[in-house]
Amino acid sequence: MPGTILITGGGTGLGAATARLLGALGWMVHVAGRRAEPLDAVVAEIRGGGGRAEAHVLDVRDAEACVAVVADVVATSGRLDALVNNAGVFRRGTASGVSAEDWATTLEVNLTGALHALQAAVAQMRRQAPVDGCRGQVLNVNSGAGLRGYEPGAAYTASKFGLLGLSDALRLEVAPDLVKVTDVVVAAAVESDLSTGGSVRRLPALVVAQAVASVLTMPGAAVLSRVDLTQLPEPPTLP
Ligand SMILES: NC(=O)c1ccc[n+]([C@@H]2O[C@H](COP(=O)([O-])OP(=O)(O)OC[C@H]3O[C@@H](n4cnc5c(N)ncnc54)[C@H](OP(=O)(O)O)[C@@H]3O)[C@@H](O)[C@H]2O)c1
Repeated sequence: MPGTILITGGGTGLGAATARLLGALGWMVHVAGRRAEPLDAVVAEIRGGGGRAEAHVLDVRDAEACVAVVADVVATSGRLDALVNNAGVFRRGTASGVSAEDWATTLEVNLTGALHALQAAVAQMRRQAPVDGCRGQVLNVNSGAGLRGYEPGAAYTASKFGLLGLSDALRLEVAPDLVKVTDVVVAAAVESDLSTGGSVRRLPALVVAQAVASVLTMPGAAVLSRVDLTQLPEPPTLP
């Protein structure tokens, strides 16, 4: 049953595609990110299609701001059924060469920022009544770089490995509170601002939205701990 969802990094890429799809499926969609313009565009699109959406300017590095956004969501929508922890950055740099600034920013956004958002969301979910046996869901958008090292992105790899561990610990912690945690591991290149260049074949961002939507359709007691999204190789060319 559609409820209320908060999507960080919901103004662009995978987050925006997820917001559009869930808006069309009847969810009350709250999108958050640092720039108002892309968020407002996504909100306008969802509302234009007859859906419900709100934008929140948010830097996930600010823990208090995450708490304030969750409070705004609840003030508008009454509860928070799902958080999609999707905000992320990628800074190119090897383990031996990454700058201190790129390392810090990547870890602060992709790992600590995700922690801030999930802490704010889980505090609210614990307070609200269960629906179909579940108080809420946290979906953490991960990457193939969360499972194996990605040489040109050492800080990104470290942040996504960290997020997988954080998610695992959280899953055990909040299960007794009837809160579900899912890793949406996007182990394929997907069209977005973050993943550009090269001759890599990319999946459309809509596929990630579809993966998120399918996790959300699970009945209350059913937990999908992890979804691994990959893609088939290119079909062979005919002689
Ligand atoms: N594209 C891929 O191939 C791929 C593959 C695997 C996993 N992923 C993951 O998918 C997620 C979304 O990435 P994307 O590919 O859709 O790239 P994207 O279009 O660049 O989206 C990243 C989003 O995060 C937001 N963001 C960045 N820093 C933020 C901060 N400090 N506070 C709040 N929001 C912030 C950005 O908005 P603002 O700049 O306005 O804040 C932007 O909307 C990331 O977690 C990424 O690691 C992507």
